[in-house]
Amino acid sequence: QTLSLGDKTLQFIYIPWVHWPETLGTYLQEDKIFFPCDFFGSHLATSSLFVDEEAVVYEAAKRYYAEIMMPFRGPIKKNLEKIKALEIEMIAPSHGPVYDRPEFIINAYKDWVSDRVKNEVVLPYVSMHDSTRKMVEHFAGALIERGITVRQFKLSTTDIGKLAISLVDAATIVLGSPTVLTGAHPAAAYAAILANALRPKTKFASVIGSYGWGGRMVEQLTGLLSNLKVELLEPVIAKGYPKDDDFTALVKLADQILAGHRELKIVN
Ligand SMILES: Cc1cc2nc3c(=O)[nH]c(=O)nc-3n(C[C@H](O)[C@H](O)[C@H](O)COP(=O)(O)O)c2cc1C
Repeated sequence: QTLSLGDKTLQFIYIPWVHWPETLGTYLQEDKIFFPCDFFGSHLATSSLFVDEEAVVYEAAKRYYAEIMMPFRGPIKKNLEKIKALEIEMIAPSHGPVYDRPEFIINAYKDWVSDRVKNEVVLPYVSMHDSTRKMVEHFAGALIERGITVRQFKLSTTDIGKLAISLVDAATIVLGSPTVLTGAHPAAAYAAILANALRPKTKFASVIGSYGWGGRMVEQLTGLLSNLKVELLEPVIAKGYPKDDDFTALVKLADQILAGHRELKIVN
């Protein structure tokens, strides 16, 4: 549909679910400017009208994608196809600076919505008395030794948006939690709920952590991840402070992740 304003013509393009169901993009034909509404946006308060530092805008746009757009990966792919035929010289989103090099953000989106995952393990954890922390430390070391990138987040202090960003690409998520009042620590449950809502393209998931006498921490956390199309790998749960057997099990989990990543051909 088009609307003539005299010397300017607006072309409306239905681009649903980025991120509202009825999102409309507008293409100003004479000037080749695309106004994509929330699509391609970034949460960046800046006095620059145009993107000046691409690295800064990349981070802000990826955060915006991660926190808001990621669950709509399918519709975004279709919307990218829809705008392919347009000759775009500038993209002016509702949030953040104007892209005068549109391929910068279009290529970033193509990468984020692709089915490719990276050789990365996202490791959000919380620990009250250091047992889970010790396990996380050992496990992260084993992963790094195997050439796997680890994105570790201490949930008591982390910027949860950074956790969301790391979920855009990672092949694997492993949650670390103690058992608290028969379930997961609330901070770990929060991370699981967030990951589940964002529906990242993650392929493997597991849980590590500690308990004192019993509970359903693992069942609760894996239950909270039900939206993810992941293979669940054998969790590692220590009674109290981790011992030799627990460290051995953590190394085995790292080996399993390495094997999974090798199958995906994302690590040698
Ligand atoms: C407030 C609180 C509640 C707990 N509830 C449970 C529980 O329901 N079941 C259990 O097995 N352990 C429970 N524990 C024990 C912890 O899970 C155990 O000490 C664990 O090793 C702590 O791991 P962390 O050092 O990583 O925090 C509880 C501990 C605290 C402080």
